[in-house]
Amino acid sequence: AVLILLGPPGAGKGTQARMLEEKFGLVQLSTGDLLRAAVAAETDAGKAAKAVMEAGELVSDEIVLAILKDRLAEADTQAGVILDGFPRTTVQAEALDALLTASGQKINAAVSLDVVDEAMVERVSGRFTCANCGEGYHDSFKTPAVEGVCDKCGGTEMKRRADDNAETVRSRLAAYHAQTAPLIDYYDGKGVLKRVDAMGGIQSVAGDLGAIVAGVS
Ligand code: AP5
Ligand code: ZN
Repeated sequence: AVLILLGPPGAGKGTQARMLEEKFGLVQLSTGDLLRAAVAAETDAGKAAKAVMEAGELVSDEIVLAILKDRLAEADTQAGVILDGFPRTTVQAEALDALLTASGQKINAAVSLDVVDEAMVERVSGRFTCANCGEGYHDSFKTPAVEGVCDKCGGTEMKRRADDNAETVRSRLAAYHAQTAPLIDYYDGKGVLKRVDAMGGIQSVAGDLGAIVAGVS
């Protein structure tokens, strides 16, 4: 199965993709994570992407597609994939259609996580993750049981993203509305769009998404 998670920064794409991975054995494929890894490794793509990401704008379709294709080819799509943060432009959506058609696959569902912009600044500014295992947390909404210690792996180093400040979040929201939100109609036209109210708690959103996955796989 191929599942797409659409939604603005802070909507919960990463949080939910990780939960679906655990529950259903799907593979999470996040272009944001892949790009951050390229930036950290100082590859050519990473060097080109760094400033763009720090400004909260979208990295070029060319770079994103090159990175995604490599990873999609390696991924075990038998188990199913969750595309988190991809596609983000019409060009990317059309390229994905072509890739899937060529390999005899199709999109089972594109889920729009519906949220209110104002709430996203708080969600993103309060976010931190475990440097060891990548588990995500939030200063108010999801704190580790023991302060500073990861619930999942016991790691004690937490990190915050360079683009998670209030100003950059506003640019990222603007990029979402201008370039990514049109994909909601794109997938509606293909008959695969599902909408989930993502203003509720993490567990309630997970319940709605789980029902969608169970229905398509
Ligand atoms: P990316 O890494 O994709 O970031 P994003 O889309 O801005 O999304 P986030 O990771 O900020 O949010 P999320 O929806 O995953 O929320 P999370 O689950 O963490 O992209 C970063 C940059 O890379 C882009 O700006 C762009 O430059 C570039 N890029 C990436 N892909 C690209 C592409 N395809 N094309 C071009 N450029 C690309 O949740 C947020 C916080 O809220 C967490 O702390 C969490 O604990 C908490 N939370 C989650 N759900 C809830 C809830 N229901 N209630 C309360 N709190 C919640
Ligand atoms: Zn951890």
